[in-house]
Amino acid sequence: MVCSCKQSCACDKSIEVLSRLLANSYILFLKTQNIHWNVESCAFRGIHLMTEEHYNDLFAAIDVIAERIRMVGGKSPATFKEFLEIASINDNLNAETSEEMLKALLLDHKTIRDDIKNGIKTINDSDDFGTVDVLNSRLAFHEKIIWMLKSTIA
Ligand SMILES: [Fe+2]
Repeated sequence: MVCSCKQSCACDKSIEVLSRLLANSYILFLKTQNIHWNVESCAFRGIHLMTEEHYNDLFAAIDVIAERIRMVGGKSPATFKEFLEIASINDNLNAETSEEMLKALLLDHKTIRDDIKNGIKTINDSDDFGTVDVLNSRLAFHEKIIWMLKSTIA
């Protein structure tokens, strides 16, 4: 993932950070849908509706992130193979109960939150304010979901 100017530039850092966020968001979108479809619980309706809200947000964000990669001169990864190679989370749910499922989601949102924070620090010295804006917006989303999942599990 190198900027199309073919030289090492600040864009490369932005493309790397955005590409990982894109991969993480796509995988978490699918994992959230997995729970939306397969969860069984006395709280089914609440979890089913909450996960639908979450995956709809993730789906909308995927497009914003991929287009931002194009804006800063990169080529957006767009296959599951690439996503799994560069993501910080994986697509295995490894959970049986609804509580285990929500805890798995919580862990992934925390991983992505930390990734975004590190990404912002990495590119903060450049003048790519548009990318920082996208990252800040995604950070706020993941922080909100972390709070919601914690409150649901409690
Ligand atoms: Fe549905």
